[in-house]
Amino acid sequence: MKQKARIRIGLIGAGWMGRHHAGNIMRNPDAELAGVADVNEVNIAHLRQDAGWDGPVYKDHQSLLESAVDAVVIASPNSHHAAMCLDAAHAGKHLYCEKPMAITLEDCRRIRDAVRKARVKYLIGYHRRLNPLYQYAHQLVREGRLGDVFMVESDYLHHIPGDWDIWSWLGKEGVAGSLFHAGSGHNVDLIRFFGGDIAEVSCMKGTFLPRKQQVETEDTALAMFRFASGAVGKVQFCVGPILPFQFNLRLYGTRGSVLNNRVWLDSIPKFADPGHERDCVELPASWVPDNVQGGISEPWGKLMDHFVDMMVREVPCLNDVDSAFQTSAACFAAMEAAKRNTVINLKEMMQ
Ligand SMILES: NC(=O)c1ccc[n+]([C@@H]2O[C@H](COP(=O)([O-])OP(=O)(O)OC[C@H]3O[C@@H](n4cnc5c(N)ncnc54)[C@H](O)[C@@H]3O)[C@@H](O)[C@H]2O)c1
Repeated sequence: MKQKARIRIGLIGAGWMGRHHAGNIMRNPDAELAGVADVNEVNIAHLRQDAGWDGPVYKDHQSLLESAVDAVVIASPNSHHAAMCLDAAHAGKHLYCEKPMAITLEDCRRIRDAVRKARVKYLIGYHRRLNPLYQYAHQLVREGRLGDVFMVESDYLHHIPGDWDIWSWLGKEGVAGSLFHAGSGHNVDLIRFFGGDIAEVSCMKGTFLPRKQQVETEDTALAMFRFASGAVGKVQFCVGPILPFQFNLRLYGTRGSVLNNRVWLDSIPKFADPGHERDCVELPASWVPDNVQGGISEPWGKLMDHFVDMMVREVPCLNDVDSAFQTSAACFAAMEAAKRNTVINLKEMMQ
């Protein structure tokens, strides 16, 4: 029997994230890593060695787009996402773009419109929805086991040492954009997963932490959200605290709560009896995100498999360009709310 052709995927950006993506593309039996574009030869050599890959490399993304690829994965610094997505959409290539979608709301809108016009598939790189902890918690919500979820909170507390290479671009507003968007876009995406559409946004932010490389935007922010359902949400963001990486989720419903991997339900026997308040269901601690391994807690591989399935099996996209636009708009709204010390109506801002 003739074998079905594999989806040919090109990778733009062979840095830390790109190397994870390369391995995950190569592990998928329906996909092939058909080319890599990067301006940095050392990173390409590193990828070749890590992944044991020997395919064609390109110095610029346009040449990769002109080659026979069906889709591209974009893992370049944030300020490049817009032009690369627009070029890929114009070239009719399906797209998996790393977060953030782009560093301005106008660029996010342009990407959304170009993707719709070109009718290509688009997936944003918010992988955490596929973490088994959040899948399980989502199932509890869908089954009504938490009752009405009225408050959703998520934290991104990430100590990135000031002398890491990534600060060569991460601290610069013109390259990375808002650090809140870059880091806590994950949290905003996750609270949207549980709370649905966001209606209003407020925020306070600042820069507090000493480091060798300067941060031009913010290193700390507290953003508050009201969902269209009326429920409320909060995202806490800090890059640089003296603390190991923390990515937390807390859901509060009328019949139960989820605090990371611990679940309290009013149906757990004895919960209401004195002395049993701590009785809860404990899910595996390894499900709590740790930002390091691309395994169970950080399912980049699962998201790549989903991308391939979108193309091979026409599986509906779980986080498409409209969803990415909403998450991005909520992040931009938070920054604008902090700047103007006001509450932003998200629908108005997205128009
Ligand atoms: N989803 C996640 O959990 C996650 C985690 C980390 C990073 N990211 C995202 O992945 C992207 C890359 O981050 P990283 O940590 O890998 O950074 P990195 O600095 O390690 O890698 C970026 C790569 O892009 C290359 N590059 C720069 N300009 C280019 C151009 N014009 N054409 C082609 N390549 C170019 C660089 O040479 C480098 O190899 C960022 O957008 C970041 O936000 C996502």
